[in-house]
Amino acid sequence: MMIPSVRNRILKNFFFNFIKMSVYILGIESSCDDTSAAIMEDTTVLANVIANQEVHRQYGGVVPELASRAHQQNIVPVISHAFQVANINKKNLSAIAFTRGPGLLGSLLVGVSFSKALAIGLDVPLIEIDHIKAHILAHFVQKKDKIKEVPEFPFLCLIVSGGHTQIVLVEDYDNMTVIGSTIDDAAGETFDKAAKIMELGYPGGPLIDKLAKIGDENHFKFAKPHVAGYNYSFSGLKTSFLYFLRDELKNNPAFIEDNKADLCASLQKTIIDILIGKLMLAAKETGIKSIAIAGGVSANSGLRNAVINLSEMYNWKPFIPEFEFTTDNAAMIAVAGYFKYMSGNFSNQTAKPYSKSSCKIK
Ligand code: KG4
Ligand code: ZN
Repeated sequence: MMIPSVRNRILKNFFFNFIKMSVYILGIESSCDDTSAAIMEDTTVLANVIANQEVHRQYGGVVPELASRAHQQNIVPVISHAFQVANINKKNLSAIAFTRGPGLLGSLLVGVSFSKALAIGLDVPLIEIDHIKAHILAHFVQKKDKIKEVPEFPFLCLIVSGGHTQIVLVEDYDNMTVIGSTIDDAAGETFDKAAKIMELGYPGGPLIDKLAKIGDENHFKFAKPHVAGYNYSFSGLKTSFLYFLRDELKNNPAFIEDNKADLCASLQKTIIDILIGKLMLAAKETGIKSIAIAGGVSANSGLRNAVINLSEMYNWKPFIPEFEFTTDNAAMIAVAGYFKYMSGNFSNQTAKPYSKSSCKIK
């Protein structure tokens, strides 16, 4: 049930829109291990504050219980800092957009509960956001000093993160269909687990990316999966990488140390080949030439280069996100909130987080 004062506020905001006043959205992201708050004026980001949780590094992966506790600690300072950076008064907010899922439930609960309480306190409407859709809509975030071209609908987006690997057909800001998905591990998870095996640290993706730059990508060959349609599989690659190292270490205990850069480059190439293979198939069969990448793994230099090179070969129009909008951030939540705000799609105080993706599967 919608609180009457919130309904009045929505009507007032629609009136403001009508006479073209700015819409200010506070975005709150807490789905995994980053606490983030952003403030958006229409689609222009005024502040995007992210608190990374260092506590997980020593465990080589995210510990859900510790993530929830760190969100509790970070959320108030992160939001206060965002208001300072944006230099706007809380009273000017049009709405609060929050990540409802998918993600870790304990982490999501912190952002969802905080958003609800703040919405009551400020008497503004709530907007619920799907984290995966937000990663895709990060392509619509504009920066004050640099207006960039945004994708036209429909476009294909390869969304690659720690928890997801999907090819999504994006028909408009809210209408998205997953046409391919991993049947087991995500690409980011594969980077992270391989880095853990090599004792490189966490998160593994950026570390492997860095070492890959000085390695020979053709030095080692790893098997690629055969999966139907546009779907992916990474668990076989992860296992073969583990067994390969186990065998080599028997002969040479310093094998990883001696071959670190080549191992990283060869593994990264294999992951990119797998990702790109299905993306090319989807582009060919749908006839869509606007191709975007999104999510944490879209920060990978090899993947970015591969998409740019293929765009030249196949006449694609590529959309490569800026680094700051690849990994988890609240600017993508706020911009997704802006589009829902404009279409009058609001949430309410009974919204509860969900752990699995809500994108419809064909
Ligand atoms: O989107 P994200 O921040 O969180 C999830 O929603 O999962 O993605 C995090 C993932 C991690 O697996 C991390 O290793 C990976 O993105 N990542 C990268 C790079 N930067 C982050 N993977 C490969 N190369 C990178 N440069
Ligand atoms: Zn994410």
